[in-house]
Amino acid sequence: MKRKISILGATGSIGRQALEVIEKLYDKFEIIALTGGSNTELLNEQISKFKPKYAYANKPEDIAGAEYATLDEICSNKENDIILVAVSGKIGLKPTITAIKNGIDIALANKETLVMAGDIVMPLAKEYGVKIIPVDSEHCAIHQCIKNISQVDKLIITASGGPFLRKSIEDMKNATVEQTLAHPRWHMGKKITVDSATLMNKGLEVIEAHHLFNMNYDRIEVVVHPQSIVHSAIEYVDGSIIAQLGLPSMHIPIQYAITYPERYEGIKSKSFSFSQIARLDFEEPDWDKFKALKLAYDAGRTGGSATVCLNAANEEAVFAFLQGKIKLFDIINTVETMMERHNIVKNPSIDEIFDVDNEIRAKSRELFLQLR
Ligand SMILES: NC(=O)c1ccc[n+]([C@@H]2O[C@H](COP(=O)([O-])OP(=O)(O)OC[C@H]3O[C@@H](n4cnc5c(N)ncnc54)[C@H](OP(=O)(O)O)[C@@H]3O)[C@@H](O)[C@H]2O)c1
Repeated sequence: MKRKISILGATGSIGRQALEVIEKLYDKFEIIALTGGSNTELLNEQISKFKPKYAYANKPEDIAGAEYATLDEICSNKENDIILVAVSGKIGLKPTITAIKNGIDIALANKETLVMAGDIVMPLAKEYGVKIIPVDSEHCAIHQCIKNISQVDKLIITASGGPFLRKSIEDMKNATVEQTLAHPRWHMGKKITVDSATLMNKGLEVIEAHHLFNMNYDRIEVVVHPQSIVHSAIEYVDGSIIAQLGLPSMHIPIQYAITYPERYEGIKSKSFSFSQIARLDFEEPDWDKFKALKLAYDAGRTGGSATVCLNAANEEAVFAFLQGKIKLFDIINTVETMMERHNIVKNPSIDEIFDVDNEIRAKSRELFLQLR
């Protein structure tokens, strides 16, 4: 039986790689829907190659070869066995909730969904018996290592350290957009690449891991591992550590998530060779240089709407940085200022989450005007 799948964000970095995986496993999948945003040219090429029934683009009239459907309509379609949520930012949240309420399993790349509403999404998935399978390489690694969560003492999340690992704080303060986007290990969308340079991405992943694996923040450790070979690890209560290793490629976690619990040769291109990996280094993060990581832990520990505030301020500031409106360190200053000023909403509903999100974005934009 073919697994019926829809991909939200098919034209993005994760979406394109997911289609490369599916192309290799074409006899295993049937594509129900593909969605893009503004890149309708690529979306139409994908439609003509993979023949989905439905498609979404910001301009519906530009779609050729598939019937238009909104993200919500796609996620309500019970023909789907699984939906890969690979849009970037807050737009992932509502469709994910719709899919869960329709009993459809989720391969989750969009980390903002759990950062904004993990306390709602994870219990809902449990209620509807829906699997949330992580796509992020670190969470995919942990998912592969864990047999019995009650025996796990600690999650160890690795971070490559990004392009500024060996640079000074001064270098970072003057970093250009081009330098910030030059990630040494991973080719990803622009938003997540900037987050990787500030280590906010690692902070968002800590919050994501807290929700996915129901783990207290004191038992989630981040370690810098520049080679990106060990994708993450867990320590069991008896001191045994199990890690997942592999060459840095998103094809592997994407394939794992959409084929779980099966495994196939699929897109595997190169075999890993221990003897060719000269060394594996690990070090503690520089908490002064990468203050974003501390802010994310603080927001996670505070709970309620604090992580919504963190995410909204960060996302808005990253866009402003990419447009040349603010400097790289202003991203972190914006997040810190917004978090200091924010009145926490405890146990926010989805509507309250979007209210906080809108309010923080508007206030962040006001702050950028003062920074000029
Ligand atoms: N890239 C990675 O290696 C990686 C790894 C782990 C987790 N993630 C997570 O996966 C998610 C996607 O990351 P990415 O790097 O693939 O991002 P990306 O390359 O920027 O792709 C984003 C996708 O979302 C679509 N999109 C953007 N705005 C939209 C809107 N308003 N309505 C509908 N669709 C919209 C884009 O469409 P258009 O391009 O057509 O506008 C594109 O298909 C993020 O949450 C990220 O944190 C990514």
